[in-house]
Amino acid sequence: MTTAIDYDHVPYDSVAMAQTHPSRLGGIAHLCGLKSAPAGSARVLELGCAEGGNIIPMAAGLPDAEFVGIDFSASQIDTGLRLIEKLGLTNCTLTCADIATVKIETEFDYIIAHGVYSWVAEDVRNRLLQICVDCLRPQGVAYISFNTLPGWRLRQVTREFMLFHGRHTVEATDRLSIARAGIDWLANGASGASTGYQQMLKAAANQTATYENSYLFHEYLEGVNHPQYFAEFVERVNKVGLEYLSEAKLRGSLASQLSGVDLPENLSRTELEQYYDFLVGRQFRRSILHRGRDRIDPERFDLNEMSFSAISDLAVDDELSGGARIRFSEGQITVVPGVTCSLLRLFASHWPEPALPTISCRHWREWPFFTENAWNISSQADPSARRGGGQQQQAHCR
Ligand SMILES: C[S@@+](CC[C@H](N)C(=O)[O-])C[C@H]1O[C@@H](n2cnc3c(N)ncnc32)[C@H](O)[C@@H]1O
Repeated sequence: MTTAIDYDHVPYDSVAMAQTHPSRLGGIAHLCGLKSAPAGSARVLELGCAEGGNIIPMAAGLPDAEFVGIDFSASQIDTGLRLIEKLGLTNCTLTCADIATVKIETEFDYIIAHGVYSWVAEDVRNRLLQICVDCLRPQGVAYISFNTLPGWRLRQVTREFMLFHGRHTVEATDRLSIARAGIDWLANGASGASTGYQQMLKAAANQTATYENSYLFHEYLEGVNHPQYFAEFVERVNKVGLEYLSEAKLRGSLASQLSGVDLPENLSRTELEQYYDFLVGRQFRRSILHRGRDRIDPERFDLNEMSFSAISDLAVDDELSGGARIRFSEGQITVVPGVTCSLLRLFASHWPEPALPTISCRHWREWPFFTENAWNISSQADPSARRGGGQQQQAHCR
């Protein structure tokens, strides 16, 4: 079992996560047909907030929004409270409490649980979902990340090996050094890689060796790490009255990844997503959920209620015969020259501020470029929200 003591001894590196910013979550929810609350005045709850490294910067960037963080590690909460005091923030509170028993009397527009769901016991998982059901405001959304199968299968081998290798060791720091020695043994032992299994093992061991102590400890050496299939996750959230909406990172969206793949007919959205996970060996999801009782209307969406931003190092070569080449730090794509190129130039020139273009098509699906490249999205209602510690302004391309 995971205890607060584990996190008191080895605190988690608590940092800002762009994909959990209410502006990003609200923007995606808006795209999907929810009338999500403007980030600038939202109420946001983070469960398992560690030192508040995610919500404290958000609170600083969104002074009229309100942030509440809950974590059962007293030392992490103390560190966060000291920072809040130092910064003089009045819109962020951190409370030391157990998700399993905490009583939350108010409602929130956004609930975030990053790196918690797969790493807690079943009763805590159930309670976490119930908090989302009970405490989400109408049209509110919850963000829950979790380890997924089948991608985590091989990582489970390295995790179980490290636990086995350190089976006689109790102290956290000793367990870390023994785990590192174990992972070296595994990588060396598989270095000849004469079988497919050994090749995968070697890659997994080499990857594991690169992780920081805090991640290695809490991901690999904790008592609980419960990856699951996406379809199981959806079944479970549906049972308590929540619905799956989208992933918080649109990069790798089904629309682009499954084009050209022959699929069985009449698949539900969940089945389609599950096929995709099998195909790519997905290891992790950042899923956005909403209350099943909230009606969503994908057609009510208006692009002009949105603003957009793009990464700063974007370059457009529109001299090519087949189309314009767009180069990003992460790759390149080719598009038909014209409005898309102009928009990209506009976004890049506004960096790090968002641009508010007037877009002639009403629905985002009419803008073919959109899903392929997973623009960073934010809701327009509060321009200051999009600064948010500079964390959410980036676009992703394949
Ligand atoms: C892996 S860390 C993730 C921290 C942060 N959300 C992030 O992603 O950076 C998990 C956090 O959840 C907290 N936690 C685990 N079980 C908890 C519980 N039952 N009640 C409250 N907090 C819990 C831990 O103390 C830890 O800070």
